[in-house]
Amino acid sequence: MNVYDSDRMADALAPAGYMPTHAPEDADMIILNTCHIREKASEKVFSELGRLRQVKSRAADQQNKQVLIAVAGCVAQAEGEEITRRAPWVDMVVGPQTYHRLPELVAQADPHARSHVVDIEFPEEVKFDLLPEEHLPRGPAAFLSVQEGCDKFCSFCVVPYTRGAEFSRPASQILEEARRLIAGGTVEITLLGQNVNAWHGYDKQSSNSAGLGRLIRELADLDGLKRLRYTTSHPLDMDDDLINAHRDVDVLMPYLHLPVQSGSDNILRRMNRKHGRDDYFRIIDRLRDASPDIALSGDFIVGFPGETDKDFADTISFIDKVGYTSAYSFKYSKRPGTPAASDETQVDEQVKTDRLAALQQLISSQQLAFNKSCEGRVMPVLIERDGGREGQMTGRSPYMQSVYLDGNSSMIGQIVDMKIEQGRQNSVLASVVSDSSVL
Ligand code: 5AD
Ligand code: SF4
Repeated sequence: MNVYDSDRMADALAPAGYMPTHAPEDADMIILNTCHIREKASEKVFSELGRLRQVKSRAADQQNKQVLIAVAGCVAQAEGEEITRRAPWVDMVVGPQTYHRLPELVAQADPHARSHVVDIEFPEEVKFDLLPEEHLPRGPAAFLSVQEGCDKFCSFCVVPYTRGAEFSRPASQILEEARRLIAGGTVEITLLGQNVNAWHGYDKQSSNSAGLGRLIRELADLDGLKRLRYTTSHPLDMDDDLINAHRDVDVLMPYLHLPVQSGSDNILRRMNRKHGRDDYFRIIDRLRDASPDIALSGDFIVGFPGETDKDFADTISFIDKVGYTSAYSFKYSKRPGTPAASDETQVDEQVKTDRLAALQQLISSQQLAFNKSCEGRVMPVLIERDGGREGQMTGRSPYMQSVYLDGNSSMIGQIVDMKIEQGRQNSVLASVVSDSSVL
């Protein structure tokens, strides 16, 4: 989501004459787009701001250039005051719902003055209605935000507070943005939302209401769109129409990131997840009926307050039973203002560390087994960018695996049938089967 937001900030600032640069030394303005989901991500902001302070003072001393520094995203939303106190060299603070106003903030910011412009409202206006339609090229695989915010209030999570209430963009606006992406050369779109499958769009003209499954079907009809994905989903919103889309829609990739967080019913209840372990198994069964080869990924939190050895063992047996092709896992991290942060039964740090290591070992073994099971198979790979070594390119398989291959940058944007030669821990190596298979 932050990648998408950063791109849109660049779009918003383009009419004011700004363009992206990768080197902070070249920049007239540096925007740090931030994440508040865990303490580590949040703390990183302040160390990064220390580095940017030096960039700013070097530019002033050596080039007589006044660089503007902005902090955007959820840390800005949650800790705007603290940022201006701890890092007074920051000129602007802008939350995730107001970054369309960046050009106005820039006009107000005075890099010579020791003042800050702060905009962390949850405004009535919707940023998507006000951001410029024109956007900078996004490449062959692009994100498209369709939903934001969350009303689920899991007891560990800051998202409902930093991103605000659940909101769905209208279908017509999403389709229009998809058309523009495709016209700019994008062939794969990943629909984004904190709770993407809670999307409930409508067209003002027809007042029809529909879920993500229907949106996926409409997008699949767009000429030139070769692949669709969506993330992140909540188990409670996996309705029949969406599950059936995995059976019916060719361009919908056989991959789903469906976080469960814990395999223990006791912990799921304490997390306020509103579903149990068996509910998740039932969803997976239905998904596998619809799309037998679907690859599953998830998120897990270990050491949630009150998590016993038995609860953790339930998570391990859960992962064993589901069989993930990859997953993200985290130690529980106290977040300010969330109910779980004030729970008295916090888990010992060493126990969290040990559980995380055990869980990650299991996930890694599942991931490696899956990558190895692909050896010898031929599958279409979207080639996205240079692979880091001379003559190497990288792309994605339908199952979201990173694929490395010998090739050159003229292949970028093509979907090529490739034979998987070797499955490794975090990627697979592949070779082109034949040129005629280019789709
Ligand atoms: N501690 C640890 N992990 C968290 N996540 C969200 N909040 C916390 C927290 N307080 C994880 C969840 C979520 C992912 C985006 O981040 O697993 O799915
Ligand atoms: Fe956070 Fe996801 Fe729970 Fe919403 S559903 S509160 S975004 S973990």
